[in-house]
Amino acid sequence: MGTLASIDGRLVPPGAARLSIFDRGFLYGDSIYEVFRTYRGHLFEAEAHLDRLERSGELIGLVLPVPRGLLLARIERTLAASGNDESYVRLVITRGEGEIGLDPALACNPHVVVIVRPLAPPPPDVYRDGVEACVVHVRRNLREAVDPAAKTGNYLNSVLAVREARARGAHEALMLDANGRVTEGSSSNVFAVRAGGLATPPLDGILEGVTRRVVLDLAGQLGLPAAETPLGPEDLFAADELFLTSTTREIVPLVRLDGRAIGSGRPGPVTRRLLAAFRARAGVAPVDS
Ligand code: PDD
Repeated sequence: MGTLASIDGRLVPPGAARLSIFDRGFLYGDSIYEVFRTYRGHLFEAEAHLDRLERSGELIGLVLPVPRGLLLARIERTLAASGNDESYVRLVITRGEGEIGLDPALACNPHVVVIVRPLAPPPPDVYRDGVEACVVHVRRNLREAVDPAAKTGNYLNSVLAVREARARGAHEALMLDANGRVTEGSSSNVFAVRAGGLATPPLDGILEGVTRRVVLDLAGQLGLPAAETPLGPEDLFAADELFLTSTTREIVPLVRLDGRAIGSGRPGPVTRRLLAAFRARAGVAPVDS
C-alpha cells in the first residue's frame, strides 16, 4: 500500500519518478490534469473525467498523446500495483520538454504521468460540523485569459486564493469573477440552497466539476429544483445552506462565510440529503455512520 507513479507507462516508485527540468509543465504549468478517486477500489466517473481531460486539451491545443483506453489501462495498472483500499489518482499530461521558450511547438513529446496515493478523505467533523469559507480578493481568471474550464497545471490563481483563505483561517476560498459574480472555490464548485432549491453558477468561467454534475443529476432525481444561474456574494450570505463539491471532498457543508453564519450555522437538511444520496450513488456507507 502506498504511493506509486507511472511515467509514460512505466511504473516507478515516487522517489525515483523524474521528468526533465526542461519540461514545460515545470517551466510554465503547460500541462493538463485530472483528479480521480476510487470507491471500493473502482474509479468513480472515469469517463466524465476523461471527457473533461480531452476538453482541457482542446482548450490549450494539447492533443492526448495516447488513446483514452490506454490512459485508463495505465491508471488501472498503477492502482492495482499500489494495493491501496481507496486511492487518490492524479493524471497529468505535460506538453513535454524542449528548448526554453514560450512557443508550444518547441516541445513535441508529451508525457503521461499517473500518481496514485492512498485516499485521505476529510475527517468526519468536516461533514458533521461543516467548515468556513471566505470570499477572497484574488479574482478568478478571465475566460479570455486562461479559461477556468480547462484544468491545466497552471493553478497559481487558485494557489493565491488558498493562501489568502488560510491566512483568514478558512477551509476554502471562494472566488469572484472580474464583474463580482461568484465563480467557484479554489478546487471545488459551490452551491447555495434557498427555499429548498439549489442554485450554482453557470458554466461560464468555471471548471465543470464532475461532482457538480452528479449533484445536479441527484437533485433532479430527488425532485429538488436546481438552477445554474449567476450568483453574487449577497446570494451566498442570504442562503439557507451552502456547500462545496469536489472529487476528494464530495459534498462539504459551508456553515460560515467571511465569519458570518449561513442559515442556522449548522449543516442543513438539503446538504445532508444530497450527501447521503451521493454516497449511495457511489455505493458506500453514509459518512457519519
Ligand atoms: N479539483 N473547480 C476547481 C477549480 C477544481 O480544481 C475542482 C477539482 C473542482 C471540482 O471538480 P470535481 O468535482 O470534478 O473534482 C472545481 C480537484 C479535486 C483537484 O484539483 O484536486
